[in-house]
Amino acid sequence: MRLILASALAYLATPSLATTVNIPNVVSNSTVTAESTSVAGNLDAPKLTPATPDQSAYDWWYFDAVSTTDNASVVLVFFNSGPDGFAVPDATVLNVGIDGLYANGSAYSININTTSGAVIDYDDNYISGNWTGSGISFFGTNLTGTPVYQITLDAPEYGISGTVTMRSRAPSHYPCGPNEAGQTEQLVPHVFWANMLPDAATDVNLTVDGSPVSFADGAGYHDKNWGDAPFADSVSSWYWGHAHLGPYSIVWFDAIDSTGTEHHSGYVAKDGVFSGGCGDAAVVARPWGENSTYPPLVTTGIMQGLELTFDLGQAGEFVANVTTGSAVSTSDTYVRTIGTVVGGLVGSNETFEGAALFEEFKYRTS
Ligand SMILES: *[C@@H]1O[C@H](CO)[C@@H](O)[C@H](O)[C@H]1NC(C)=O
Ligand SMILES: *[C@@H]1O[C@H](CO)[C@@H](O)[C@H](O)[C@H]1NC(C)=O
Ligand SMILES: *[C@@H]1O[C@H](CO)[C@@H](O)[C@H](O)[C@H]1NC(C)=O
Ligand SMILES: *[C@@H]1O[C@H](CO)[C@@H](O)[C@H](O)[C@H]1NC(C)=O
Ligand SMILES: *[C@@H]1O[C@H](CO)[C@@H](O)[C@H](O)[C@H]1NC(C)=O
Ligand SMILES: *[C@@H]1O[C@H](CO)[C@@H](O)[C@H](O)[C@H]1NC(C)=O
Ligand SMILES: *[C@@H]1O[C@H](CO)[C@@H](O)[C@H](O)[C@H]1NC(C)=O
Ligand SMILES: *[C@@H]1O[C@H](CO)[C@@H](O)[C@H](O)[C@H]1NC(C)=O
Ligand SMILES: *[C@@H]1O[C@H](CO)[C@@H](O)[C@H](O)[C@H]1NC(C)=O
Ligand SMILES: *[C@@H]1O[C@H](CO)[C@@H](O)[C@H](O)[C@H]1NC(C)=O
Repeated sequence: MRLILASALAYLATPSLATTVNIPNVVSNSTVTAESTSVAGNLDAPKLTPATPDQSAYDWWYFDAVSTTDNASVVLVFFNSGPDGFAVPDATVLNVGIDGLYANGSAYSININTTSGAVIDYDDNYISGNWTGSGISFFGTNLTGTPVYQITLDAPEYGISGTVTMRSRAPSHYPCGPNEAGQTEQLVPHVFWANMLPDAATDVNLTVDGSPVSFADGAGYHDKNWGDAPFADSVSSWYWGHAHLGPYSIVWFDAIDSTGTEHHSGYVAKDGVFSGGCGDAAVVARPWGENSTYPPLVTTGIMQGLELTFDLGQAGEFVANVTTGSAVSTSDTYVRTIGTVVGGLVGSNETFEGAALFEEFKYRTS
């Protein structure tokens, strides 16, 4: 009895940081504030105040994974977006976008509205998100150690069910530095970023329209973006992507904002340590081969590949050559594709090969 009481008191004495955020499936009429500097605690928590977006704001949780042996891949985005913030066609404020490829390279695409709202529970070490009524939810555990995430899809009426399980293999970070309080979260003005899983060993076990999308130990990734102004008014073009090659995990962001200024965020991790930052040379991404107009235009086709140069300071220079593979989804203003990558530290005798998943936005018309 005494022991039980003592442990109950010890439990009560521990400050509880658990927070539950209930988000209704509506647009807020009050102006939203976007977090722009990281706070102590959960990097993956909601970033808008209030959590419900106004017409021009958005806050999304993004997950993807690609097989290292064939085209099998999946991209899952839990959107909480005002209609002008990040336009998702034919969707309510809260919706889940699911795109990917079967092993043979054929694409699938499903979008599911929530019928009610979303519930997000989090503390420093845990997060769960349930887009209620969609059948799709996620949780992340061990966030202060080596994070593990799982997404559960139970939407047979939309043709999709199964799980995606991700085990982190590279440290979390913000655009300019490590996962700690006081870091800037701005990628370009009005667009913010937090990268919980720059690289994750990922098991995918999905059934999509009756056919499997299934692989073990793929190259997975999880981040979130949010913003307080329409995305398409904030960005002119951008290249983002991630890859796993040999012992390396890489993430690149090279974007041009609406005023024409280029912004960079580069990340290269090995053995649990990363180099990177947001200086002008942190990473430079340039298209090569066919359709390599730079900056890209609405009329530019899919680039044949991307050359990436990362300045790692004292750790040297890392160069990666990405070759475009099968496209997951494309429009005039957007390309998302899988690919292969070859790269290594300049001056070392070793290069590594691996799998990449990347995207391009292009809003310029001339
Ligand atoms: C915002 O205002 C519109 C028009 O007055 C109203 O219909 C809507 O319910 C309001 N939204 C919220 C979240 O209160
Ligand atoms: C999702 O909601 C949007 C907006 O209300 C609607 O246009 C669309 O048809 C809905 N999608 C589905 C699959 O019900
Ligand atoms: C991947 O998809 C392409 C078509 O986009 C196809 O030619 C290729 O054979 C597929 N790869 C595998 C391993 O099936
Ligand atoms: C998500 O919410 C729905 C509706 O409340 C509930 O039925 C379902 O069990 C929840 N899913 C998870 C994983 O908690
Ligand atoms: C949690 O993270 C720690 C530190 O990286 C690791 O030692 C431990 O195995 C992780 N636990 C789980 C359940 O993954
Ligand atoms: C994949 O999912 C199916 C049905 O959802 C299940 O029967 C099977 O055991 C799962 N396989 C793995 C490797 O988890
Ligand atoms: C690729 O695989 C999917 C799922 O099994 C199938 O529906 C589709 O017809 C296949 N595509 C081709 C070109 O064979
Ligand atoms: C380049 O773009 C054109 C026009 O969109 C397209 O037909 C072609 O396949 C693209 N080249 C590559 C390598 O994707
Ligand atoms: C990237 O790879 C392609 C295809 O192998 C090659 O043609 C190109 O020269 C490479 N680019 C660089 C900068 O190495
Ligand atoms: C690269 O250099 C290291 C150190 O000199 C050596 O141990 C290794 O065998 C070399 N690898 C190759 C592929 O030549």
